[in-house]
Amino acid sequence: MIFSLLHIIHVLTVILWIGGLAFITFLILPMIVKMPNPLEKVLLFQRIEHRFAPAARIYSAVVGISGFAMFFMMDLQRVIFTGESLSLLFMIIVWIFWTVMLFGLEPLIIKRLLDRLASQKGDGLEIEDVFKRMNVLHLALLFISLAAAASGAIFAHGFF
Ligand code: HEM
Repeated sequence: MIFSLLHIIHVLTVILWIGGLAFITFLILPMIVKMPNPLEKVLLFQRIEHRFAPAARIYSAVVGISGFAMFFMMDLQRVIFTGESLSLLFMIIVWIFWTVMLFGLEPLIIKRLLDRLASQKGDGLEIEDVFKRMNVLHLALLFISLAAAASGAIFAHGFF
């Protein structure tokens, strides 16, 4: 029963996390890119990112705790580096990448960059350029997160 609960928590948190990311990537970012005023763009994106980042930190912690709890309950430490469970290894690597991004890079780089642009030290051209890169970054993050979710399903149920 505990394992099933962990499994449910793991999957529901992944849904919230990737759903939020997809919402930002496919709806919010394109909407912001079309806004005519560069400063308004930055302020709106800054507000959304400042709200989403703390939630994403909680999602990453819950996914990690539930994932590693299942990992040890299934005794997977014995097979993790044997090449038999590459899909599990991939899921863990993506999670490590995300956790480093959210707890380290996001507060240090993205938050500072947005604060600097919002304080009008960035000009319109720089802001356009930053948003183009943000778009590519979010698409890449969404793609690897979906790949991790697919790996999880393959690990849990097999592929063939
Ligand atoms: C980006 C991070 C992650 C994503 C998107 C993700 C996603 C998923 C998904 C979608 C499943 C399949 C559930 C199912 O089909 O029933 C799964 C299963 C699983 N995940 Fe993750 N996961 C992530 C991180 C982790 C981490 C860090 C661990 C820690 C070792 C982990 C351990 C597991 C285990 C052991 C299962 C299989 C449970 C079973 O066989 O019943 N996951 N994950």
